[in-house]
Amino acid sequence: MPDKVAAAYRARFGDSPEVVVRAPGRVTLLGAHIDYSEGWVLPAAIERSVYVAAGRRTDRLLDLLAADLDDSRRLDLDALPAPVPRRSSPESGWADYAAAVGWSLTEAGERPVGMSVVIAGDLPMASGLSSSAALESALLLAWERLSGFRLEPSARARAGHRAETGYLGLHSGIMDQFVIVHARRGSAVFLDCRTLEHELIALPDTARLVVADTGVQRRLVGSEFNTRRRQCRQAVELLRGALPDIATLRDVTPADLEAHAGLLPPPLDRRARHVVGECARARAAAVALRAGDAAAVGRLMRQSHESSRDLYEVSLPELDTLAAAAWETPGCLGARFSGAGFGGCVAALVEAEAAEAVATAMARAFEGGFGRCAEVFTSAAAGAASPVAFR
Ligand code: GLA
Repeated sequence: MPDKVAAAYRARFGDSPEVVVRAPGRVTLLGAHIDYSEGWVLPAAIERSVYVAAGRRTDRLLDLLAADLDDSRRLDLDALPAPVPRRSSPESGWADYAAAVGWSLTEAGERPVGMSVVIAGDLPMASGLSSSAALESALLLAWERLSGFRLEPSARARAGHRAETGYLGLHSGIMDQFVIVHARRGSAVFLDCRTLEHELIALPDTARLVVADTGVQRRLVGSEFNTRRRQCRQAVELLRGALPDIATLRDVTPADLEAHAGLLPPPLDRRARHVVGECARARAAAVALRAGDAAAVGRLMRQSHESSRDLYEVSLPELDTLAAAAWETPGCLGARFSGAGFGGCVAALVEAEAAEAVATAMARAFEGGFGRCAEVFTSAAAGAASPVAFR
């Protein structure tokens, strides 16, 4: 893949790229929709990645080619389009991610140089595997290298996150950008989304990830995502009547919620029960993984899927079918949809020797239920975004 993207760069710009960067996708083992409530999450990076080949320009242009889409765009870094929410029709396209990262760096006081860029990869897009955060991280690394400034990994994660919230108008949490810059091969990343304290916890050597893609793409910007986030804030405001010290749903214990659930009308009661339960599950999963108990992590993944489906209401029949097929296959430790839901992928944590059986069971159940094929692939937990070649 790095050779392919470098070749596409040469074909387009007539020269070798100065740098090729790889940024991985991620799956969420635990921690569905709780990063923006400052909860705890347990994602892992995967081998499927976005690759960016880049070279410096003498002007202030960003000359972009999305090789897989065969689509190109030119942006002037000194006259970027307005942030998406301020546009008369707030539509966004892939090139807005590049504009968003350029904007975010400028906001942080950096001066990103003009670049020629080719983007390619084997990470399915808009599928809950964080292709957007991977693209942001890859562009950030390329820009750091070519512009001569260097961000600490957590600052890089914040710069990507600011691009999403400030420019693209998607009020996501920081999980995706964070795991992509901090991941380590063979490990999951346990992250406290309030303090950004994090810990790499090894997955057992015998564990693998099986990922199945429904092919149902759901653009996050302008979707139900921001509604869920608003509902969490509304629940906090109502619970403050009894619990004045809470800042987010992370601060609410299961016992508190039990005692004061009457303050929350539907669907806020369901939303809060999911978040409070998921915070507890993510922390329990970290404890289990530290003790090498992947089976317990798997059971928590299943509960996470069920809670996301029934209480947070972000699943789809396609996701439920894939998850159920995985749960029923011997050697599958657990499975749940990855990312925001509303489409995209299910990720299963499996014993390596069962990976093929789980993949086959998911593919068969999906084809039986929906009459089309799901793309299924396996992965180890992968390492963080990094340059893979430079001259
Ligand atoms: C998307 C967002 C993340 C997170 C997940 C849901 O991937 O980008 O910040 O909220 O959804 O867990």
